[in-house]
Amino acid sequence: MNLQLQDKIILVSGGAKGIGEGISQLLAQEGAIPIIIGRNQKDNEQLVQELIGKGFQADQVVAELAHPEACEKAIQSIIQKYGRIDGLVNNAGVNDGVGLENGSYEKFLESLHKNVVHYYLLAHHALPYLKKSKGSIVNISSKTADTGQGGTSAYAASNGGRNALTREWAVELLKYGIRVNAVVVAECYTPLYEKWIQTLPHPSEKLAQIQAKIPLGNRFTTKEEIANMVAFLLSEKSSHTTGQLIYVDGGYVHLDRAL
Ligand SMILES: NC(=O)c1ccc[n+]([C@@H]2O[C@H](COP(=O)([O-])OP(=O)(O)OC[C@H]3O[C@@H](n4cnc5c(N)ncnc54)[C@H](O)[C@@H]3O)[C@@H](O)[C@H]2O)c1
Repeated sequence: MNLQLQDKIILVSGGAKGIGEGISQLLAQEGAIPIIIGRNQKDNEQLVQELIGKGFQADQVVAELAHPEACEKAIQSIIQKYGRIDGLVNNAGVNDGVGLENGSYEKFLESLHKNVVHYYLLAHHALPYLKKSKGSIVNISSKTADTGQGGTSAYAASNGGRNALTREWAVELLKYGIRVNAVVVAECYTPLYEKWIQTLPHPSEKLAQIQAKIPLGNRFTTKEEIANMVAFLLSEKSSHTTGQLIYVDGGYVHLDRAL
């Protein structure tokens, strides 16, 4: 299937590592120009150089997305350089463990800024350009919005927000022909996941237990499997799909627990 993403300018927040890296890699392979928006210049540049070295196109903008003004600046600098935006993948975030018992007003709000406020701001500032291109938006989200996890109120609330914004924007942007979908992730082994598992008492036993509970293949979802769905949703091949929350999770959230 030719996704016809050649030369499309597609922004990927947090596109240098983990799931975002998988998305940037696939978009570049498909001939698009992924623009990584991430806080770590070295990580951003390393991936861009790797992709260019393979003969692909890619670029990056350094931005700490928890700072609202950085979101607007990032979009402005991309527009100055490229003059257009064909797609947006909202992906950057962190499961930061701000719980009900151990949290505070300040930590809760800070986490919303790390996880959902920049989803809104990047879409808000990119919208005039997405309207021109009839571009598509994909929000990466987490199963924690459906299942809870315990001890991570702000992250779970952010993911509930990511899902609700997907439906809300799909409705608001119908009139512009802009499609908005979410890819919901359950268990994908990334640097973020590695960091989280290391906070638990027996990380390797816990890893084995988690994998055993993933119905399809008793294994983690790969970042490539998530990227494949994201690329499809960005492309015209999904031209009548909008407002959908698509679970790329090996059946983790919806299949029978007794499996
Ligand atoms: N890994 C999983 O199993 C899993 C499960 C469910 C949902 N998710 C979601 O997927 C997304 C990506 O997760 P991951 O596991 O790939 O994470 P990761 O930490 O491995 O990679 C995230 C990248 O985004 C960057 N980033 C994060 N916050 C940023 C900010 N505020 N400003 C600028 N850059 C920022 C990081 O520097 C890093 O490069 C997250 O939004 C997370 O909620 C992941």
